[in-house]
Amino acid sequence: MRRPLVAGNWKMHGSRESVAALVAGLPQVRLEVDVAVFPPYVYIPQVLEALADSAIGVGAQNVSEQRQGAYTGEIAADMLRDIGCRYVIVGHSERRSLYGESDQQVADKFIAAGTEGLIPILCVGETLVQREQGETLAVIARQLDAVIAAAGLEAVCAAVIAYEPVWAIGTGKTATAEQAQQVHWAIRQRLGATGENTRLLYGGSVKAANAAELFAQPDIDGALVGGASLDSAEFGEICKLA
Ligand code: PGA
Repeated sequence: MRRPLVAGNWKMHGSRESVAALVAGLPQVRLEVDVAVFPPYVYIPQVLEALADSAIGVGAQNVSEQRQGAYTGEIAADMLRDIGCRYVIVGHSERRSLYGESDQQVADKFIAAGTEGLIPILCVGETLVQREQGETLAVIARQLDAVIAAAGLEAVCAAVIAYEPVWAIGTGKTATAEQAQQVHWAIRQRLGATGENTRLLYGGSVKAANAAELFAQPDIDGALVGGASLDSAEFGEICKLA
């Protein structure tokens, strides 16, 4: 049995005050579901402190592929572990497209996170053009294979994978449950028997209104939620449905 995970990616939103309010409204976590939130770096300590007695995990939205040294502006995986993070998002499409992260860099970040005992949430997904050209599964396979080649299949299977079609992120357009399941199934096939227990999350305009249908799919084990995770009541509803 795979334990569902609902992850809230807050992206670059918030202030000390709004973060305090958001955390105060987070759900009580049921034993059978994992929940994690991903605040902007500077608010991570505040959130860790506020959630010290909670089962909700905390993670970062990005990590450096370097261990330490003269890398101005970067944050190392061991720093995240040191302050108490459990997870890190790796290869989010915004990092890939806006900050030019390559498949190789994503693989290096994945390894850096894993080396420090953080659970990477590896994001993969196609653009609208790629989907329209029938390249969806080839793109996903390429993104996945780059990390498998660098980190090994076992490490990838021990992580969490999030399928996030780029055209569905922040657009209000969710992939249909069937479209999402089709890609999740293909990812599961690619991982083979080793990936039987790997959690595959769907991300892209997930809301309370569409979560149940997505979660009902056999290979969808939870969600990576962006916009809707900034509303604690809405996020709580999604967690309840997982
Ligand atoms: P969204 O973002 O839910 O706002 O579409 C998802 C994500 O980018 O992880």
